[in-house]
Amino acid sequence: MEKRKIIIDVDTGHDDAIAIMMAMLCKDEFDILGIATVNGNVCLDYTTENTLRVVEFMGGGVPVYRGCEYPLVACMYGKRPTLPKKDKPGEKTHGWLLDELPKATIAPESQDAVTWYVDTLMAAEDESITLVPVGPLTNLAHVFQIEPRTVKKIKEVICMGGGYKYGNTNPLSEYNIWVDPEAAEIVMRAGIKKFTWVPLDACYASYMTKDDVQRIRDIGNRVADAAADIISFIWSHPKFIGKDVNSIVFDALCISYMLDSSVLKTIVPAHCTVDNGGGIADGQTMFDIFNGRIGGEAPNCYVALDSDREKFLDIVCEVMSKAKEAGV
Ligand code: RIB
Ligand code: CA
Repeated sequence: MEKRKIIIDVDTGHDDAIAIMMAMLCKDEFDILGIATVNGNVCLDYTTENTLRVVEFMGGGVPVYRGCEYPLVACMYGKRPTLPKKDKPGEKTHGWLLDELPKATIAPESQDAVTWYVDTLMAAEDESITLVPVGPLTNLAHVFQIEPRTVKKIKEVICMGGGYKYGNTNPLSEYNIWVDPEAAEIVMRAGIKKFTWVPLDACYASYMTKDDVQRIRDIGNRVADAAADIISFIWSHPKFIGKDVNSIVFDALCISYMLDSSVLKTIVPAHCTVDNGGGIADGQTMFDIFNGRIGGEAPNCYVALDSDREKFLDIVCEVMSKAKEAGV
């Protein structure tokens, strides 16, 4: 089987870390051309440091490119004053750095992520590269504006973001899209041939319990142990202590889908529009799943409305158990 050429775009992030670990363990399935970082879960310095920690822990060999430090609009003009707080270098807020892994001793590439994307995509054959953005879409919005010819080089995009029925940052908006709605709308309008959303609806359906995490730990290798620690972070987070919450490993569902597409259920064509009006629905992904019967616009994407929780856990465990034989 030919390896799938992929680029992962991350705001690492606990769940991003699991996605990267899984992708790096699937050496027969994926040729990871590079990992781009972006502002999101934490500031760019930290998402980059966290990403480097994961890559180094997994044995290195995958280049990491620093991407955009700010969303296209929000921080610059104060349109969204409630944007995520940034840790100042040297300060530490619980859970903001991936303390489950050693500090990185490797460095990002000297080229910035956006320039690297443009160069890499322009040098590629048409429809040859799969993009897996699991953070805000700022980098990709820049890429498509700077060089629209990059679009035809993309085979497909599998994106963690958005919500069909609900949000997680406000009742309507999912975090990745809420951070940079203008970027998401630019990406949706870019004309990508196949774009699949893995939204909150699918991610929350594949929640993990403490027993599930124990199953990962029982695999008994260093990667599975680290993954179990990372997935468990939520149960020691001050915000959630004593609360009956499950762990949602959002971004890993995208990697799982590339390994076994049946993990996503009810994948329907839709027309997606992103609200960026700055009001109550700012950052909402509006999916018209009635094939133009409501909004009158033809589908521009697919959206997964559900997922198979048991299968997701099986895939994560199967991949984590590869670590020893992969020499990681
Ligand atoms: O809303 C969940 C998403 O926001 C995940 O990708 C998480 O890592 C954060 O980026
Ligand atoms: Ca993420």
